[in-house]
Amino acid sequence: MRILTGIQASGRPHLGNILGAIRPAVALSKQPENESFLFIADLHTLVSLKDGEQLKQNTYAIAAAWLACGFDSDKNYFYRQSKLAGYHTELMWYLSCFAPFPMLANATSFKEKSEKLGSVNAGLFTYPVLQAADIMLYDAHLVPVGKDQRQHLEMTRDLGGAFNRQYGEEILVLPEARIDEAVMTIPGIDGQKMSKSYGNYIDIFLDEKELLKVVKKIVTDATPLEEPKNPDTCNVFKLYELVADKEEIAAMRAKYLAGGFGYGHAKQELHAVLVRVFAKERELFNYYMNNIDELDAKLKLGEEKAEEIAKVTMERVRKALHF
Ligand code: TYM
Repeated sequence: MRILTGIQASGRPHLGNILGAIRPAVALSKQPENESFLFIADLHTLVSLKDGEQLKQNTYAIAAAWLACGFDSDKNYFYRQSKLAGYHTELMWYLSCFAPFPMLANATSFKEKSEKLGSVNAGLFTYPVLQAADIMLYDAHLVPVGKDQRQHLEMTRDLGGAFNRQYGEEILVLPEARIDEAVMTIPGIDGQKMSKSYGNYIDIFLDEKELLKVVKKIVTDATPLEEPKNPDTCNVFKLYELVADKEEIAAMRAKYLAGGFGYGHAKQELHAVLVRVFAKERELFNYYMNNIDELDAKLKLGEEKAEEIAKVTMERVRKALHF
């Protein structure tokens, strides 16, 4: 099966990206029957980030995170969307001509910002069409993503379906979303969805001291130290539950319920567990960020391989269009 997913380069990779998309995608990529296309959506990023140097640095950080989390780029496909921009944007144009205006106007990603239309660019409006092209360009079957991407996947199927009805059922492969219940929406330090744009994210690749500073900012209620606390409404516990092992979670729950255990203690434990669970990833991430040439070489190889696949799809699509 073909697995495909992408991450924008709008900031450094955070715990939401890692648990919601990177880990599930890397796990699928390890099954021998799958081939995986994991990429950096740097064209999409331009909608919100215009500084080229910043975009480049973020792109490397996302690429380093994929590798640090165990992606075998040599056996799979690993690329920057911008390096194959010709194929992605060509297919996007064809799909745009099948995208009804109301469908795009109703996309959550657009609607959220549509009160401030003056600051919205056309890229934000057509964002889901580029995403549909990203996916169908490589005949992907399964797209592991967080819950916020569900609508984009539905639009991809709608666009692919409309295209196929016109030109033949076998032209584009309609993908399925894979949204893992347990990690579909990772909360940020304020309890809302963790997001680069809300500034509430945890960057697990920070050095230990900086990471502790962020963990200390997690919002909690004002229950006094000596009183029992409700783990199920606590942001610290929710994050702890996502990374710690079963026994640790049970022990932490008991401490909450017993009282005499403060949020400060809970935060120290969360920090310790993050550093331990992601020890290998943190080391590898730093390795790649300090060896950009190696990272670049892996991306270049991946881009050459991805182009071979994109070319075949576009030949099929152009033929169907009589172009
Ligand atoms: P992006 O960059 O916002 O997020 C990348 C992936 O991380 C997931 N994610 C989360 N999962 C759980 N909890 C969270 N708090 C959380 N925050 C982010 C996202 O759901 C996503 O899976 N449009 C996409 C990028 C994209 C793409 C694609 C994805 C472009 N082309 C083709 C799949 C296929 C985006 O903005 O993701």
